[in-house]
Amino acid sequence: MIVLKSPREIEKMKKSGRIVATILQELKAAVKPGVSTLSLNQLADRLIEKFKVKSAFKGYKGYQHCLCVSINQEVVHGIPSAKRILQEGDIIGLDFGVVSEGYYGDSALTVAVGKISPQIQTLLQVTEQSLWKGIEQIKAQNHLSDISHAVQSHVEKHGFSVVREFVGHGIGQALHEDPPVPNFGEPRQGTVLQEGLVLAIEPMVNMGKPEVVILKDGWTAVTVDQSLSAHFEHTVALTAQGAQVLTLTQ
Ligand code: MF3
Ligand code: CO
Repeated sequence: MIVLKSPREIEKMKKSGRIVATILQELKAAVKPGVSTLSLNQLADRLIEKFKVKSAFKGYKGYQHCLCVSINQEVVHGIPSAKRILQEGDIIGLDFGVVSEGYYGDSALTVAVGKISPQIQTLLQVTEQSLWKGIEQIKAQNHLSDISHAVQSHVEKHGFSVVREFVGHGIGQALHEDPPVPNFGEPRQGTVLQEGLVLAIEPMVNMGKPEVVILKDGWTAVTVDQSLSAHFEHTVALTAQGAQVLTLTQ
């Protein structure tokens, strides 16, 4: 069941989205060689306190942290650890969400640790572009799978692959609401988009094959072929004025 949001609810979601974006930018600025992934999580904890919000992730299905950190061939849901130290040339996905006044915001980005090769830069660029291609399809009377198709087409045009096992989602008073939003599919399928719909769009893109496997920790998803993977995510509302990306700093 899809829960449409009123303009008042979307205003609240804009507040949580803006806080998510602000914190993610601070986390991004803290990414450098020698930093542990646990210290990034601790910084996120401190910022959550500063903004007087709650973590969207802590306690979710037993997850203990407020941040997911996914390095290189890790796709999503990497667990912060004091033993995991960022190295020059790594890429790291930061996935973060908060709840403010009962409403969730969820966003992710992938950043380079120091210098990375042009080919890896292209992976990051194409993944972020595919998110925006998906967002461009969020308009009244389009179908849900128009988003999916736009993401997949852009990614595959560049020779990369989209992950099938994880998808975007509706979001509101819960982190994960209907509908699921796959990053692949034929156009003009699924529900018709209408005002009040709020979606988290989140392409996960592998440099090699699309298959992923979950590690023994029960969380970390990695590429089966060990190729690099990138992840970008925004929370987006469809309003009377069109699509509004809520997880921006302004
Ligand atoms: N941002 C992720 C998503 O959109 C949620 C991370 S799972 C959690 O599904 F356990 F960390 F919350
Ligand atoms: Co999400």
